[in-house]
Amino acid sequence: MNLSQKKFFVIAHRGASAYFPENTMSAFKAAVDMKADMIELDVLLSKDNIPVVFHDERLDYKTNGSGLVLDHTISEMKKLDAGSWFHPKFKNERIATLREILEYSKAKILVNIEIKPEAVTDNEESGVVELVLNLVNELEMEDEVLISSFDYRVLERVKKSRHPVKMAMLYEQKQSNGRAPVKLAKDYNIDAFNLNKKELTENWVKQLNDYKIPFLVYTVNDKNLMESIIESGAKGIFTDKPDVLIGVVEELFKKN
Ligand code: G3P
Ligand code: MG
Repeated sequence: MNLSQKKFFVIAHRGASAYFPENTMSAFKAAVDMKADMIELDVLLSKDNIPVVFHDERLDYKTNGSGLVLDHTISEMKKLDAGSWFHPKFKNERIATLREILEYSKAKILVNIEIKPEAVTDNEESGVVELVLNLVNELEMEDEVLISSFDYRVLERVKKSRHPVKMAMLYEQKQSNGRAPVKLAKDYNIDAFNLNKKELTENWVKQLNDYKIPFLVYTVNDKNLMESIIESGAKGIFTDKPDVLIGVVEELFKKN
């Protein structure tokens, strides 16, 4: 993914998740219909080692199942209703595999694959990073994908694999050990920073801008905040309401 190909990226957080059940095909299709630039999705592993698109470690809150995602096979999870928690009209929504969403997205929309720390183990062989990269290779989507994680082992493993895919760091205090974003960006050789809006201090913004490190900010649904974050120099915003962000971007870029 070439982050300089656009001035600013509208990123649909877990799809258009304010209007559709998060991380499901319907939420991603809506993001494409709204003309977002990118979707963000969360990846965990099933018991039988299939990368699945799901945010929570447990199935309990966003499906009619219960227990850990990693204790269920993909065929068990495919039977679950992943939409009724949001609205009864989405009762047929199913948990998607990463393969399904990537196949749908190819040549339509860019994809930020966030690998959840719960999917990462000490064992690198056939781990989540390798499985995700193999899928990206097989579907020839190297240029359409950005990989990110709160778990810095993911970033180390992607680099070690020498895969050409671009990588973003999600700031995590413990692993950062007092290092500022610019130092972290150099240490891990990352292409972008994905920052929580709460971490956006004046000092960090200045450093990131001075060193020309692209930064993407999550999760912003408020119009005024969107505007000020764009003006601070952010390269993109993750939002549950891509239609709202697109409106703000159009207004703002028309003025300037
Ligand atoms: O990738 C940005 C954002 O999604 C990180 O937090 O908890 O929404 O996955 P979370
Ligand atoms: Mg996420």
